[in-house]
Amino acid sequence: MQYIESSDHMTIQENVSLKAYNTFGIEASARYFVETSSTKDLQQLIKTPLYQQQELFILGGGSNVLLTQNFEGLVVKMSIPGIEVVEENENEVVVRAGAGENWHEFVLHCIARGYGGIENLSLIPGTVGAAPMQNIGAYGVEIKDVFESLEAVDLQTAELKVFKHEDCKFGYRESVFKNVLKGKYIITQVSFRLSKQANINTSYGAIEETLKEMRSQSNYKARTAIEEVSEAVIQIRQSKLPDPKEIGNAGSFFKNPVLSAEKFQVLKTDYPQVPGYPLEDGSVKVPAGWLIEQCGWKGKKVGNTGVHSKQALVLVNHGNAQGNEVRKLAMQIKDSVWQKFEVEIMPEVNII
Ligand code: EPU
Repeated sequence: MQYIESSDHMTIQENVSLKAYNTFGIEASARYFVETSSTKDLQQLIKTPLYQQQELFILGGGSNVLLTQNFEGLVVKMSIPGIEVVEENENEVVVRAGAGENWHEFVLHCIARGYGGIENLSLIPGTVGAAPMQNIGAYGVEIKDVFESLEAVDLQTAELKVFKHEDCKFGYRESVFKNVLKGKYIITQVSFRLSKQANINTSYGAIEETLKEMRSQSNYKARTAIEEVSEAVIQIRQSKLPDPKEIGNAGSFFKNPVLSAEKFQVLKTDYPQVPGYPLEDGSVKVPAGWLIEQCGWKGKKVGNTGVHSKQALVLVNHGNAQGNEVRKLAMQIKDSVWQKFEVEIMPEVNII
């Protein structure tokens, strides 16, 4: 490792291992690597010749990426810190956070102050800056439900731009930053409009059941409603999803496919047990985890890789797996789902 350029705030390093920077725990290196902890630093970086000559990869928490090769360009690790209240009234508060803040710690920070709206998104790995990119969601809530605005730096001109809700074009695991504006901006700050009144959403899956169980335990301590929901979500996630500190993974590897009503009916005729969640436009979202499980993959080990035993949507690194091995397994899974159901499943993680 060699230091090739530095200022008071920033050091560009060469040949840096990315193993500690991706939750799959895959070994790959970056030709150049820099960590930025302020918007100003980032704007300065964009003006350097090195930046302008290199292919770029922006890294948040590394929890949604599969590295299949060494990266020959510049990796920018976003570490902008800070959480502040920028607007407040009797009922609501707007909280602005730096892109580098850990998502779950940010959630806990808000819960501790009685700010509700993101408690269902507890324990999601990653950073605040990455959250709007794919409109993270869990247990009936998505970022778009509480999103106020974000600030992002133009990767060409270094200018700062504010994006309002409608500018972001949020969809299921989608935003404008994954589509038309892909590779054009770096998100530096995100603001959320949160509620001071507990407006909890416990309709999804096992939340109600888990809450009941929690309350019936003899050592139960009274908590606020949003604390309770957060705790229930944490329990559910811990029971299904592997902790990246123990076993490398990037959460759901695939998106849940959305089928037309007609296609879903055909599937339902052949497989009456297929679960489906109807969407507003009449289409139906089918859990990819179910499709994958039906193909016999759940809990399977293939070399150093595998499919998690408690949630078939999660691919894991059993230790020393290479990115290509995981990709190969993912392709085999995708093919088998297609063979059996004629349904195409698409990766949710970013494959580099
Ligand atoms: N299912 C199976 N087998 C499995 C897994 C799931 O049959 O191995 C079926 C069951 O019918 C189950 C249903 O799928 O009831 C839904 O499962 P789950 O509640 O675990 O949710 P999911 O649709 O598999 C999505 C998100 C998760 C998020 C959960 C909870 C996507 C791609 N994934 O998974 O997000 O935590 O809902 O809201 O939308 C992530 O993005 O990394 C992630 C973990």
